[in-house]
Amino acid sequence: MKPLLILDGRIIDPAQGIDEIGSLVVAEGQISWLGKGDIPFPPAECRVLHAQGLIVCPGFIDLHCHLRQPGFEDKETIATATRAAARGGFTTVGCMPNTKPPLDNPATIDYVKSTAESDGVIRVLPIGCVTKERKGQELVEMDKLAAAGVVGFSDDGDPVADSRLMRQALERSRDLNLPIIDHCEDKALSEGGQMNEGLVSAELGLRGIPNAAEEIIVARDLALAKLTGGWLHIAHASTTGSVELVRQAKESGVRVTAEVTPHHLTLTEAEVRRYGTNAKVNPPLRTQQDIEALVQGLNKGVIDIIATDHAPHTLADKQCQFTRAASGISGLETAFGSLMGLVHGGLISLTTLISKMTVAPAGIIGQRYGKLGSLAAGSGADVAILDPDLEWVVDAQTFASKGKNTPLDGSKLKGKVVATISRGELVYLDRTTTVGE
Ligand code: DOR
Repeated sequence: MKPLLILDGRIIDPAQGIDEIGSLVVAEGQISWLGKGDIPFPPAECRVLHAQGLIVCPGFIDLHCHLRQPGFEDKETIATATRAAARGGFTTVGCMPNTKPPLDNPATIDYVKSTAESDGVIRVLPIGCVTKERKGQELVEMDKLAAAGVVGFSDDGDPVADSRLMRQALERSRDLNLPIIDHCEDKALSEGGQMNEGLVSAELGLRGIPNAAEEIIVARDLALAKLTGGWLHIAHASTTGSVELVRQAKESGVRVTAEVTPHHLTLTEAEVRRYGTNAKVNPPLRTQQDIEALVQGLNKGVIDIIATDHAPHTLADKQCQFTRAASGISGLETAFGSLMGLVHGGLISLTTLISKMTVAPAGIIGQRYGKLGSLAAGSGADVAILDPDLEWVVDAQTFASKGKNTPLDGSKLKGKVVATISRGELVYLDRTTTVGE
């Protein structure tokens, strides 16, 4: 691997509090130098990326992705998902265990890790199930999964419905120092629901899912986290009430972290009118008022990270009756562009956006996989190069992901990832831009 020079970009590294024009040298998989002005001892033979007018930041970290392998390779594989992630500026993804078989034992975790090594282009960190086979009846052997390298536990797609099991899981999470990532949904209340409960669901004649279906479980989980001292992580928070509950819990010292998706930050239930099943997702797209609460939650530190919930599906899964269609949005390749809409609209700062996708998720992962989410000299070289002003039109057919299911197909976005370096290797380069070589 030749050394890589990234010249004269705007380096934004929230982990080090850096926002300045400078250059970066990548050698032997590490960041060997970062600074302003002339590079001391520039390597003789190297590749050069010209980053004038571009942003250079740590590679994004996404703690909530569905890679679908093993078992659902028609929807996605580790090979295609990691390439999609690279195109989205991500250099680390956490993969959810709702595969077939589910990731509920060390052998399946090893399978994902070794497939990621052989087929993947970026780092994949497995998340283990909370319960065996995701059936909600018996806890997995959490200590064994922790030893196998999981970064958290989740039955995502389903909540841990049994409060007693959730209590036990949180107790162990405390001792293992790993989060229980709960998909908060009261299934009795959401049953048969297709989209957000409100005016649009009434108009379309689709059964709705009220905000309360999420908030009831968020409130229960927070009570159990308080009781146990365990570490609760709220997956894909989508409602005003969830933000308020997490705010209060944090204030009273409960150990809770929370994530929000790009789609819940930028799209409302109204998209279902236009995009039909491609806007069907769980939790559902909510209202403008919920978006405002989620954005404020991010800005105030109530919501810790942004995670895509990348959920690729086949055409057949989506091109069917609304009630039969699978839920989920293929999100890795549009995340940065869609979120930049919030930055251009003055709703969040660029630094907040980058920090919620780099240093903040790195803090949740901890040091198990080395120091992530920073451009500090000596760190592994995971870097994203971004053009904040480049306008482009989303064409799902060109996605590296097998999942073409996005309500953003055909939308114009302002802000694009133009290059991604993972562990020192250039894994994505948008050759239509000026970043060049
Ligand atoms: O929309 C969703 N799709 N929400 C989930 O929680 C699961 C995911 C999937 O696996 O397709």
